[in-house]
Amino acid sequence: MGTILQFSFAETDLDRIAEATGRVAITVDAAGRMNPAARRVNRLTKGALKRMVESKAWSKVKPGQLCSLAYPAGLAAEAVDVVKLDRTAPVIEARKAGAALAKALGKAELLLMLGNLVRGHEVAAGLALRAYGFETHKTAEAEATGAVQVMSAKPDEMKAACAAPLAVAEGVHFTRDLTNEPANHLTTTSFAERLVEMQKLGLKVEVLDEDELQKLGMASLLSVGHGSDSPSKVVVMQWLGGKKGDAPLALIGKGVVFDTGGISLKPAAGMEDMTMDMGGAGVVAGVMKTLALRGSKANVVGLVGLVENMPSARATRPGDVVASMKGDTIEVINTDAEGRLVLCDVMWYAQERFQPVGMVDLATLTGAIIIGLGHENAGVFSNDDAFCKDFLKAAEAEGEGAWRMPLGQAYDDMLKSRIADMKNVGGRPAGSVTAAQFLKRFVKDETPWVHLDIAGVASVKAETTYAPKGATGWGVMALNRMVADHYES
Ligand code: BES
Ligand code: MN
Ligand code: ZN
Repeated sequence: MGTILQFSFAETDLDRIAEATGRVAITVDAAGRMNPAARRVNRLTKGALKRMVESKAWSKVKPGQLCSLAYPAGLAAEAVDVVKLDRTAPVIEARKAGAALAKALGKAELLLMLGNLVRGHEVAAGLALRAYGFETHKTAEAEATGAVQVMSAKPDEMKAACAAPLAVAEGVHFTRDLTNEPANHLTTTSFAERLVEMQKLGLKVEVLDEDELQKLGMASLLSVGHGSDSPSKVVVMQWLGGKKGDAPLALIGKGVVFDTGGISLKPAAGMEDMTMDMGGAGVVAGVMKTLALRGSKANVVGLVGLVENMPSARATRPGDVVASMKGDTIEVINTDAEGRLVLCDVMWYAQERFQPVGMVDLATLTGAIIIGLGHENAGVFSNDDAFCKDFLKAAEAEGEGAWRMPLGQAYDDMLKSRIADMKNVGGRPAGSVTAAQFLKRFVKDETPWVHLDIAGVASVKAETTYAPKGATGWGVMALNRMVADHYES
């Protein structure tokens, strides 16, 4: 699908540099010192590399960036990508270098000379993450993939070190594929099917249909899908790689495959973007895939609510009152505030069924979070400082922007309804906070909880370091790291 590179690993063989077709990548450190691969390139090119490294242009190249020698004499390759990177370069620099290489490469062939770089596997990680394209619906694009041969001093160790980062990249790409997919292709049914396919990776996957959801009392979730011909579904994914019987971490995702706003119809301009309104469910799916691919020793359950928010004669009306699975009643003031109506039932179900050690929900929940934080940070809301800190630290380590926002009684008060237990909107002020406050009403006191409002980061209009325009897969890396650091036995 969206993954456009295949990796293989071999022992360093400097003689391959002259013969390799496609591109060749080498590193030169910030002081301009050359390793054996660089010296070989320099010799083959009769000193062109040395001239480049002594140039003014090179002095302006930042660590993790590259400069290319195009169609170099003495080599069969079409280019040598020279990355400025110290042997002990930190994680993020190494990943950025990989991403820069992937961007230059496209779908071509690459001979990647990593020598004895300490974090060579992070270069591969960045390469794999950025090597993505969503071309399913481009008839002119061939289904071809590129190939990267990674050469290093200890190829077996390098291959082992790359296994987890490549599993992460695959999970991230799965999230991007789902999030980029238009709503006529990714319906609630086909979404569920794509999740069921993950059973072959060892995940347990159940699909709850409308009858079952009705029996469970999820009238709030069901009310969102009433106007759609696509049936609402909840999909439960379980990865039980930890100790038997240990309570799992629960990940909950908003999976609105398309959000028209319902009877509270959205304006036409930009409505097409609402195909990404299942981004939270996409991240949950991507994390579950990553955990399975790398055989994580943790118990994690992922639950997604899949619905389509459409206007129709059967659609929920503004003013309708619906009952949640918890029992609390909700006055639906605005049918466009549908995400919370989906999440509240899935979150309640997850707690009742799994008694999780912690719960993280992800949702493209509010436009207001984009006004507050733009596309740089997701909004983070939590009822538990320690749990929240674990997430924020994981996000920081992975370079995924996340910023904590407040909660409080005064915000909760804004949800008071005249005729029901609460309304589904709190007015324009602090729109992201009142949305979070709504969700908090469905979190048990004993459940540590983090809510991630990813409306601004799930899909973006400009390319980022690790992703082309469109879906980013934001959150897969942070949650995977949080699991690895705190929940593995
Ligand atoms: N899916 C939207 C939020 C959204 C907006 C996601 C922009 C991504 C980009 C959500 O369901 C919604 O419509 N929220 C409303 C809430 C309002 C009616 C209280 C909003 O943000 O306007
Ligand atoms: Mn909406
Ligand atoms: Zn929505």
